Amino acid sequence: MEYLDFRSDTVTQPTAEMRDAMASAAVGDDVYGDDPTVNELQDYAAELTGMEGALYVCSGTMGNLVSLMSHCARGEGVLMGVGSHTWKNEAGNAAFIAGVMPYPLDDSTGLPSEESIRASYQPKGNVHYANTTLLAMENTHNSAGGLPAEVGPFSRVASIAHDFGMKVHVDGARIFDAVAFFGNDVRDYAGCVDSIQICLSKGLGAPMGSIVCGSRDFIDRARRYRKALGGGQRQSGIAAAAGLIALRDMRGRLADDHKNASALASSLSEIGYDVEFVQRRTNMVYFKTDGDASRLADLCKKKGLLIGPAGQGRIRMVTHIGIDGGAVSRAAAILKEIKAAGA
Ligand SMILES: Cc1ncc(COP(=O)(O)O)c(C=O)c1O
Repeated sequence: MEYLDFRSDTVTQPTAEMRDAMASAAVGDDVYGDDPTVNELQDYAAELTGMEGALYVCSGTMGNLVSLMSHCARGEGVLMGVGSHTWKNEAGNAAFIAGVMPYPLDDSTGLPSEESIRASYQPKGNVHYANTTLLAMENTHNSAGGLPAEVGPFSRVASIAHDFGMKVHVDGARIFDAVAFFGNDVRDYAGCVDSIQICLSKGLGAPMGSIVCGSRDFIDRARRYRKALGGGQRQSGIAAAAGLIALRDMRGRLADDHKNASALASSLSEIGYDVEFVQRRTNMVYFKTDGDASRLADLCKKKGLLIGPAGQGRIRMVTHIGIDGGAVSRAAAILKEIKAAGA
């Protein structure tokens, strides 16, 4: 059966152009810094974000982890939203690999509040506490509904952390969804933080890989941690070739995902699903079910539709390059049928 796959924007297939570029990519040993395609991707990312350097890493999780390790010494603290991917979905790596203590912040509205940062900040010098040296944010914020943060509030939150002498990292797995939504420039965000992680393998459609950007010193440290974590790859230009197309040519298509997600959200509301309201919808639709989310997912699967149970009775549906207007209509029709059958 061919499925309509709305589970995530990570399920995309590489485009024909990506496959061609991968087949013919010029490569070298990237641990020696010799891979011309990886170098081109890194240079392009640094230029695009306006940061001094960039590093190609295997995944978003690795990008966030090397960033954390590059900013914080063991035993230090990092302020992190409890809804963030780094808190919930990266296998607890901040604690068990980086050896830093995550301090929980309320980020249910996407950005951590000023009060929660002030309340959680721990200065150096008190032996009872892990000195907080980093604030980690997420934009767009996945579990807050794919919510993009505007530059103004984003920059204010970052500057509070900076005023305390902390560094700021942003998990910008989907930062270009925020950029597409507001029509601004990624430099507007990158200019407020000390590092940014950008996934190439989400809405941008590459089969793998992420980019981390920051200062030259930060990138030098991140390169060492990448190696320590086993992420130093050799002829990785084969993958980077697709990543370059993703970063260069696919940003413009993200607005289509947002349009499709809005259409999906409207249809599901009309059918009677409890769709979560988000002020600014990018490529995600979360809705609640009274019943068992996994059972609903199973029923959908039998009809050729894949959706993502997201915990606490929530379902997530994500639009991406493999989803067009027709797929949205078919998905809504399947969910309507299931609702009519009382499931
Ligand atoms: C917001 C966010 N950050 C980071 C990641 C991690 O990316 P990866 O799956 O490439 O490790 C994800 C993955 O879905 C994500 O949604």
